[in-house]
Amino acid sequence: MRRAVARCFVTRDLPGPALDRLRERHEVDVWPERLPPPYEELRAGIAEAEGLLSLLTDRVDAALINGSPRLRAIANYAVGYDNIDLDAARARDIAVGNTPDVLTDATADLTFTLLLAAARRLPDALLSVQANDWVTWEPKGFLGHDVHGATLGIIGMGRIGRGVARRAEGFDMTVLHTGPDGGVPLLRLLKRSDFVSLHCPLTPATHHLINAAAFEAMQPSAILINTARGPIVDQAALIEALRQGEIAGAALDVTDPEPPPADDPVLSAPNLIVAPHIGSATHTAREAMATLAVDNLLAALDGRPMPHPVHPG
Ligand code: DGY
Repeated sequence: MRRAVARCFVTRDLPGPALDRLRERHEVDVWPERLPPPYEELRAGIAEAEGLLSLLTDRVDAALINGSPRLRAIANYAVGYDNIDLDAARARDIAVGNTPDVLTDATADLTFTLLLAAARRLPDALLSVQANDWVTWEPKGFLGHDVHGATLGIIGMGRIGRGVARRAEGFDMTVLHTGPDGGVPLLRLLKRSDFVSLHCPLTPATHHLINAAAFEAMQPSAILINTARGPIVDQAALIEALRQGEIAGAALDVTDPEPPPADDPVLSAPNLIVAPHIGSATHTAREAMATLAVDNLLAALDGRPMPHPVHPG
């Protein structure tokens, strides 16, 4: 087992005390800015590093990996790892880890927050109060959709999907899901669901999984929730579906790209809520993610298996 001091590059300061444990053992360089290191800065930052602690906003591609001859470990501060070229890491025997489980409940909570907010038109209602437009109690004001007793279609019944399904039980919802273990085909789920919630990873197979054909299959009263990854949804098709009333609404915690530029039509589409990728944004979840990412890095730099490997290196 190695105990030597290694050079580590951490692409942003993290909440909680976890980074102190890394600093106690290794030489740690933390990118100090609010925005992610530009690609060339990241490349320079890890050129001599053995450990990288990356965020989902860092594109860790083959050129970057191959430009870092000493790199032995990448700990991603996220459960998703579509920002990392795993094949390139595997080819170099670089261990890659993620932060599963600790953000499951926080992300499932946020999914339900968005689902309820979209169903009950909460943002519009709050804005009307702020705009001094609450003039009376109106029989036809802000009519939304029932959540209780509705059908929820979950695409991706992993840890977070199951967490959302557990919450749906409390609302007496009927839950459908895709995939094995009692799953239904995607088309049937889309046709039958009042709410469709995405919880699959972003892979070549799920890129634009929700496209124009999917919106056509959905009910005009249906609402789409995406707290997974932006490119799972064909965003142009979503905007068109909302404009044409093919679906009733959508709530996104993730977009493509992130953040959207100021003139992106996703920011002005009707009946669309956009949140700034805050699924895991609780003190507890984000500190626990830091703990797991540092545990992964410390283990791999010592020559031990990462406790939360995406692949072992
Ligand atoms: C993840 O972990 O993949 C989320 O998108 C951010 O917490």
